[in-house]
Amino acid sequence: MEMRPLLVAICLLFVTPITGSFWTVGSQVVMDPMVVCKKTRRLRGKLADICRKEPSLLKEISKGVQVGTRECQHQFRNRRWNCTTVKRSLRKILLRDTRETGYVNAITAAGVTYAVTRACTMGDLVECSCDKRTSSGYKLNKKKNKNIEKMTEGEWEWGGCGDNINFGFKKSRDFMDAPFKKRSDIRTLVKLHNNDAGRLAVRNFMRTECKCHGLSGSCTVRTCWRKMPSFREIGNHLKESFDGAAKVIPSNDGHNFITEGTTIKPPSRFDLIYSEESQDFCISNYETGSLGTQGRQCNSTSQGVEGCELLCCGRGYDTKIIKEKVNCQCRFKWCCEVTCKSCLEKKTINTCR
Ligand SMILES: *[C@@H]1O[C@H](CO)[C@@H](O)[C@H](O)[C@H]1NC(C)=O
Ligand SMILES: *[C@@H]1O[C@H](CO)[C@@H](O)[C@H](O)[C@H]1NC(C)=O
Repeated sequence: MEMRPLLVAICLLFVTPITGSFWTVGSQVVMDPMVVCKKTRRLRGKLADICRKEPSLLKEISKGVQVGTRECQHQFRNRRWNCTTVKRSLRKILLRDTRETGYVNAITAAGVTYAVTRACTMGDLVECSCDKRTSSGYKLNKKKNKNIEKMTEGEWEWGGCGDNINFGFKKSRDFMDAPFKKRSDIRTLVKLHNNDAGRLAVRNFMRTECKCHGLSGSCTVRTCWRKMPSFREIGNHLKESFDGAAKVIPSNDGHNFITEGTTIKPPSRFDLIYSEESQDFCISNYETGSLGTQGRQCNSTSQGVEGCELLCCGRGYDTKIIKEKVNCQCRFKWCCEVTCKSCLEKKTINTCR
């Protein structure tokens, strides 16, 4: 029985319209940890240890990659390059060293840090637990901790279940940086820098939360713990870094990088960097991994990146009016039900030529 070709044909039928791309490859994650493990089967070291001995950690790493990818797509949804995960396109993008590559690397490393740390807090990993005492790095001087400055009255101590960021940070580094640690070409240096910038974005925006104990909410005693921000917040911060990313070139000894031009101040550990200019992503180009913007929806009244002028690269756009079903004339019925009618609403859709 020759079932295979038929099945493949059926699958393609379903996949093609969804991705809207002629490469007919469904959604594909940026870096598939399982594939990484397969490729490094003969390696030793921390990466190999994770692959062989820590399957539940590996699962969290996969989740982290997905969290990062989804955030990237949210942040770039209205731009020419929309963080597409069409496999071949993404591979081409990742082989280069542009701002976009930098963002993908940073948000992925951040996602892995985030997911592993969260798993520790939730008690999903045997290797780690939440941070019950001093949040490492924050025990320091209580008076100096800005977040706590506001609450001067009463005593407080570290407690509760804080996010164990150091564990997530370390595992993200072990897994994502290990294969590159021995190289010192410019792309590798940039990649490692951006990975770290992503992880630091998680750690740097952690906040202190406290809970009051004491008679009738008197708050004479408080317990405080460190908590990660929402991943959206991290994505926003990294997007700002993307907008202000610094271009670098190899230094003379070839083991480091310096900013291009003498006036630009050197990037800090938190900044994103790149060594190659981006393409404009206007037209589809198989070689560079650009999908082009033809057929993308744009906003005809906006002057920004999502506006038709910029998004369509000056090619113009087509306008059509569609009717959309929406809920309307909703009524609250006693008790307790809401009933709506279904109305048709006109909506203007602009798509790039
Ligand atoms: C991203 O853009 C490509 C074409 O440029 C399009 O096919 C795809 O649907 C877009 N993805 C999203 C999530 O908007
Ligand atoms: C289009 O852009 C304008 C101006 O920036 C904005 O007010 C409007 O909400 C946008 N429309 C949509 C559908 O996003």
